[in-house]
Amino acid sequence: MKKAKIAGVGFHVPENVITNDDLTKYMDTNDQWIQERTGIKERRWVTRGEDTTATLAAKASRIAIERAGIEPKDLDFIVFATLSADYYFPGAGVILQRELGIAETEIGAVDVKTQCTGFIYALSMATQYIETGMYKNILVVGAEVQSMALDLTTRGRGIAVIFGDGAGAVVLQPTEEKGKGILNTKLHADGRYAEKLIMPVPGSHAGYHNDKLETPSDWNFSDARWGNTFINEHMLTNSMIYPYMDGKYVFKMAVTKFPEVTKESLDAEGLEVKDIDLFIPHQANLRISQFVAKRLGLPAEKVWNNIQRYGNTTAASIPIALAEAWEAGKVNDGDLVCLTAFGSGFTWGTALIRW
Ligand code: COA
Repeated sequence: MKKAKIAGVGFHVPENVITNDDLTKYMDTNDQWIQERTGIKERRWVTRGEDTTATLAAKASRIAIERAGIEPKDLDFIVFATLSADYYFPGAGVILQRELGIAETEIGAVDVKTQCTGFIYALSMATQYIETGMYKNILVVGAEVQSMALDLTTRGRGIAVIFGDGAGAVVLQPTEEKGKGILNTKLHADGRYAEKLIMPVPGSHAGYHNDKLETPSDWNFSDARWGNTFINEHMLTNSMIYPYMDGKYVFKMAVTKFPEVTKESLDAEGLEVKDIDLFIPHQANLRISQFVAKRLGLPAEKVWNNIQRYGNTTAASIPIALAEAWEAGKVNDGDLVCLTAFGSGFTWGTALIRW
């Protein structure tokens, strides 16, 4: 069976830079708190009406497609990882197909919704299509516009300061080169923790899971008077439409699962941590990345971090970091590159690549 290789990478972030000081205009926070807890100095947020998740994705995709030596019309399939699609439905994949001007090709396009692990899941799915021979050129994208779903008041500061917007893309193709390409992908999930990092609205739960929701005590989804609706005025006025995170719990699980799945992936190939040339963790939080690198025994120069400049861009963070590292000359022929993620769900996973 042929392996899949990454034939082209690209990323695009909005021009609009939001510094930590800028956030103090909206909420009670400060640069020191944000930098100490998360490592973030600034993030990019789209300018309303200028970009959407799919248009950011299209900009990143065009770069990846050109670097792969193909044209958009040569694509066979699109896998789009995002939690912040342009619409609740349809998914962002079809909008990206249209933005790339290839809707007439009628190629398939699917969305993947596994949050911060989205790109790893998307890459894994696309790899299977390449390995079976079903497709030859697959566009795999991670893109987010999260700035439009943040509570920019002091109440939401624990989350609002962390997240950013951006897009990263790769083109997958089959490779004949022995020992090269995506060696393996490992995917995991544990739904017991679904409510630890969640945006509950819009959704169909209508109070069904209330016993599992540790969200703010004034959030109540089960009042029948509100009617059978995904979203209503009560939810809007009570800030129930924003993400909730149990930050400490997420931190604890992340620093365990990142190393665990990285080792699982290395073990499957008979490789060791010291064989890794470049480790690209999902940019959740600089402290998490540093903690994980230390646990694995990876020196700082083998770990790519850019959360300082972009914040946590969820499904976009790994492909942005990969494209940036590639542009910086840090990804070279024969290198062992390890992409690892953990996030809401909880979901976690790894892709191990011989470049
Ligand atoms: N600015 C200033 N103060 C803030 C703040 C902000 N942006 N956000 C929270 N605080 C305050 C809290 O209100 C609290 O104040 P109090 O002690 O007076 O009640 C204090 O800081 C500590 O808050 P807490 O939430 O306990 O902080 P923490 O040490 O757990 O750090 C995170 C919060 C989110 C940075 C941390 O939990 C974390 O990194 N978690 C992992 C999150 C993550 O990576 N998510 C992405 C997963 S993919």
